[in-house]
Amino acid sequence: MMKTIFADAKELALGAAEFFVARNPKTVALSGGSTPKLMYQILAEQFRDQVEWSSIQFFWSDERHVPPDHPESNYRMANDALLSRVPVSADNVHRIHSENPDAAAAAGEYEETLVQVTKQTLPRLDLILLGLGTDGHTASIFPGSEVLHETKRLVAAPWVEKLKTYRITMTLPLLNNGASIVFLVSGAEKAQIVKEVLKGENKYPAQAVKPTQGELIWMLDKDAASSCSEFKL
Ligand code: 6PG
Repeated sequence: MMKTIFADAKELALGAAEFFVARNPKTVALSGGSTPKLMYQILAEQFRDQVEWSSIQFFWSDERHVPPDHPESNYRMANDALLSRVPVSADNVHRIHSENPDAAAAAGEYEETLVQVTKQTLPRLDLILLGLGTDGHTASIFPGSEVLHETKRLVAAPWVEKLKTYRITMTLPLLNNGASIVFLVSGAEKAQIVKEVLKGENKYPAQAVKPTQGELIWMLDKDAASSCSEFKL
């Protein structure tokens, strides 16, 4: 496991964008939430000409159960910040059809899409971006979720009681088969959970992300790493 600490959220986003360019991935799972937005914007604004956008297959590590034009849509965030601003091939943008009232059906359909596009029954994505919630969730795998014990399905639609909604998420078998898994974590409000996840006993979903044959990278800004004294800039 590699940990890289950046001075602040902007440096973290820039470092993550440079990593993306250097890794030159052909299959990518984008993460949602607020943290990756700045990275996506920097990729579009500063690295537009350094990436072969049309050759990349884009997926999402999870999605909210909302239509693609909804303010909470992870697809919408990534599309506004990045994909609509660079020459990606529309056929290569594989969003989760979360407008489907049947979240489980949307999950099943997405699993088929992943297998068809990658031509692998257990896809090995080149780059998987993930975030970390203050409760230790990642993608949409929340504490106590039955998805934590999923061993077959690649995509699931758990009910998230605390949010009173379904989410659609890649499962651990798929996530842990990734070649490069990168956690992007920013902000002092994440410092405690970062400490517990990286040093504490095994009880958080994010700790179940252990690549079977890939690299795990934590990219943190100084504030998010502030409870881990040994993490230096
Ligand atoms: C989502 C995400 C989720 C996110 C964390 C961190 O759909 O919300 O995929 O796992 O990464 O909740 O969110 P922030 O980056 O907004 O803190």
